[in-house]
Amino acid sequence: MTDALDPAAMREHYRSTPLDEAELPAEPMEQFVHWFKDAAAGRLHEPNAMIVSTATPDGRPSSRTVLLKHFDDRGFVFYTNYASRKGRELGANPHVSLLFPWHPLTRQVIVTGTAARVGRDETAAYFRTRPHGSQLGAWASPQSAVLSSRGELLRRYEELAGRYPAGEQIPVPPEWGGYRVTPETVEFWQGHENRLHDRLRYVRTPGEPGGWRVERLAP
Ligand SMILES: Cc1cc2nc3c(=O)[nH]c(=O)nc-3n(C[C@H](O)[C@H](O)[C@H](O)COP(=O)(O)O)c2cc1C
Repeated sequence: MTDALDPAAMREHYRSTPLDEAELPAEPMEQFVHWFKDAAAGRLHEPNAMIVSTATPDGRPSSRTVLLKHFDDRGFVFYTNYASRKGRELGANPHVSLLFPWHPLTRQVIVTGTAARVGRDETAAYFRTRPHGSQLGAWASPQSAVLSSRGELLRRYEELAGRYPAGEQIPVPPEWGGYRVTPETVEFWQGHENRLHDRLRYVRTPGEPGGWRVERLAP
């Protein structure tokens, strides 16, 4: 392996302003908004991309990237196929982790919580904002199923495109929809020199003012 490709030799020096407990808002969503704005302003490629990890009831994990499509005080929303691997795992075990890998800012945010399906009205409202081709794609793909070939997928797409020409209203696929992740913990990680990183974690604590306590974790 050449030195340039040796992962053990890859080392970035992080320089950034400290993350201070005293300056944190009482609620994690407010802090998320600050960092999400920074990620968007930093021209990160797809700052709303997050890694969603799920697990089977006996604890076998799986991860994949999905796009955050909405967030507010209730939680983080993404859209997918309910019959996909992640959908089946969430159906049996709602515990989930979300990770925003904002590496160019030497930051990451890690959420743990539980996922529940959003209402069909909310899904339909979002589905209607998707481009026509993405709407067809949601119908065409039996997400996570084994395909015989790419041709099989294209045939399904073309068949649907014939049935629903551009401009025609496409119904929401019954197996497609949103999940809202209600956070239990939200960790804000800020990289610093000498690996002396900041890790501040909000933990949902009903007795606390605002409903959250913040703890500092060793890096
Ligand atoms: C940048 C990026 C964004 C993605 N966004 C989504 C998404 O919003 N919803 C989705 O179902 N899959 C999305 N995918 C595809 C997933 O990573 C994954 O392949 C798919 O959801 C099937 O996952 P599963 O078989 O583990 O359920 C995205 C992939 C990438 C790389």
